[in-house]
Amino acid sequence: MKGIILAGGSGSRLHPATVTVSKQLLPVYDKPMIYYPLSVLMLANIRDILIITTPRDLHQFRSLLGDGATLGLNLDYNVQPEPHGLAEAFLIGAGHIANDPVALILGDNIFHGYGFSDLLQANTTDIEGCVLFGYPVHDPWRYGVGETDGSGRLTSIEEKPTQPRSNRAITGLYFYRNDVVDIAKNIRPSARGELEITDVNRVYVERGTARLVELGRGFAWLDTGTPDALLQASQYLQTLEQRQGVRIACLEEVALRMGFIDADTCYSLGRAQAHSPYGQYIMDVASEVDPSPIHPGT
Ligand code: TTP
Repeated sequence: MKGIILAGGSGSRLHPATVTVSKQLLPVYDKPMIYYPLSVLMLANIRDILIITTPRDLHQFRSLLGDGATLGLNLDYNVQPEPHGLAEAFLIGAGHIANDPVALILGDNIFHGYGFSDLLQANTTDIEGCVLFGYPVHDPWRYGVGETDGSGRLTSIEEKPTQPRSNRAITGLYFYRNDVVDIAKNIRPSARGELEITDVNRVYVERGTARLVELGRGFAWLDTGTPDALLQASQYLQTLEQRQGVRIACLEEVALRMGFIDADTCYSLGRAQAHSPYGQYIMDVASEVDPSPIHPGT
């Protein structure tokens, strides 16, 4: 399965913080925002990932993450000149997707929860049409809202409904069969000139091949779109990380635990950032996983 992170947009609700910097590069507590969605794709065991961003921000993402080889990944980059909608990702990414199924994640979505990796991996194979992830919210009218038949099959999706049929918001993580590219090519822009992901998803709903995986109470799905939401997300992550002594979305740790890199490589990646607690943490994780080798330079 291929992965796409959509990290364009204008971030206008965060102005002036995002006038010259991409929203998805702003720190959420101790790391850039894009680390969180990237870690989700890695936990799904996806290693071929396209990052789509604006022409202005492309070189910054590239200098942060490079070609991904040090993390055992294959990262590629492309631009979306204007924010013409989420579904444009499938047109921009058609060459990257090629003949494979694809996972799309929005670059400003943060997920965290026990057993997430297993849940993700269980849903990356045998995709009948699309797999969406639902999260209970108290204000469903702000989101795309899904209704299921009880067996997980989606029977309707409504975009920002005034009278929501459920409290299940559709999150910014989507798994698709390869035909999503053709479907995206054939939908029309909405009244606001965007290729809407909801219109793509509705095609699968009508075919009866859209499934909703419920992320229950044990999960966090955090918003980062406004100054308050961004600060709250940072505080939530700070609380968890300090309390538990683990780091969420530490890419080097995820790469190690997923078997993409070995402990020595992981240790070196930590040592390169040893002045920060983040770098120290990586070195500790690598030494815990494999205390035996003499790490280079120690
Ligand atoms: P939004 O939060 O809807 O838009 P935004 O990030 O531009 O912020 P604002 O509303 O404050 O102007 O976008 C959700 C995510 O999708 C975010 O990561 C940006 C990304 N996105 C694109 O990359 N391209 C697009 O065309 C759109 C609509 C969003």
